[in-house]
Amino acid sequence: MLTQLQIHHIRNLEQITLQDLARINIFFGANGSGKTSVLEAVHMLGMARSFRQGATRSLITHGKQDCTVYGATTPSGNRGRVPVAVQRSLSGEVQIKLRGQAVRSVAELLEHLPLQVINAASFDLLTGAPSARRQFLNWGVFHVEQRFFAEWQRFQRCLKQRNKLLRHGKLVPSELSVWTRDLAASGERIHEFRLRYFEALAPSFRAIMERLAPSLGGLELRYRKGWEKSLSYREALEVGAQADIEQGYTHIGPQRADIKVTAKGYSAAETLSRGQQKLVVCGLKLAQGQLMSLIREDVSACVYLVDDLPAELDARHCALVCEALEELQAQVFITCVAKSDLEGLWPAGVAPAMFHVEHGGVHSAAIPEIEVGGAEIATREHQDL
Ligand SMILES: Nc1ncnc2c1ncn2[C@@H]1O[C@H](COP(=O)(O)OP(=O)(O)OP(=O)(O)O)[C@@H](O)[C@H]1O
Ligand SMILES: [Mg+2]
Repeated sequence: MLTQLQIHHIRNLEQITLQDLARINIFFGANGSGKTSVLEAVHMLGMARSFRQGATRSLITHGKQDCTVYGATTPSGNRGRVPVAVQRSLSGEVQIKLRGQAVRSVAELLEHLPLQVINAASFDLLTGAPSARRQFLNWGVFHVEQRFFAEWQRFQRCLKQRNKLLRHGKLVPSELSVWTRDLAASGERIHEFRLRYFEALAPSFRAIMERLAPSLGGLELRYRKGWEKSLSYREALEVGAQADIEQGYTHIGPQRADIKVTAKGYSAAETLSRGQQKLVVCGLKLAQGQLMSLIREDVSACVYLVDDLPAELDARHCALVCEALEELQAQVFITCVAKSDLEGLWPAGVAPAMFHVEHGGVHSAAIPEIEVGGAEIATREHQDL
């Protein structure tokens, strides 16, 4: 759980310090006030980049050279306080510090602060290209299977080498088989990790959806491994070798995997209403969080960044999503326009921290109009972190 946050030069947020963050944190305010920017800041702290693909440079406040986010997390079991800091500059430089030490691989940061984002771009999970669903699958496997990341890197290397050869070499199928062997072995392992993960995820998703949208019966998830299902990857690569040679790249494999979501047998992307799609997206992301907290011992739940939950959802469905988030015991950063949109939707006994976002300033709404934090605290915390 993130207990403190300092934001410097993220979009319209010049300098913000938030102390004593709660488990449920609601940010409300008018259009353009800076609510999404607060979520962007948390995302930068957990992933070292924007949640909009390729938009990381635009995170930096216009006219500034860099942006920085500092945070303090309390790991599960309450074992002290861990400082985290991420800085990005216009020149593309990235600096990450965890426990005061420089971190080279973003993977270490991802493991420390697993994040789930639910925003307008999350509809891509249903309506976007397969790459969005592969990314979703990879996120899940990465967080529960330690061996996945190294295997993923190995697979990418093999694929790159094989494609390079296909592009440049005048090959016959027998020559290609040498290169195919390593790719086949690695790709098969990636598929096994993904399949095992998917088989655990699907029932969680169905159970969550029964509560989020009971009227939406018959939801099914199907995993497609990226090649003919009756064949091993090796066999499929051999069958497809001639086509690969002719076209100059590897056509099949885990890089083509996908998840199909259907409702009563029809494509969810084509059939469901926008609100129903949003509920399915929430169901998928909640199922991932639930599975991760069941499997990982060092992390009790991931942090959810939910941008504008009330958009597309009626109050009853908003409340069902809030209830499910609360049940996960996840920390939540959630935005809406009016305070009343989300304030009363949480189960009895839950007291969300309310923050009013206004012209790039963030004020605790519990004590109206007193700005949280300021330059003095910020300077002290910098040294600390
Ligand atoms: N790099 C930047 N530097 C300065 N300001 C920026 C930058 N990028 C975006 N902004 C401005 O920051 C403001 C806050 O944007 P943000 O997306 O956080 O608003 P919001 O509160 O989420 O609004 P909405 O309710 O419309 O979603 C906007 O006015 C936007 O134009
Ligand atoms: Mg916004």
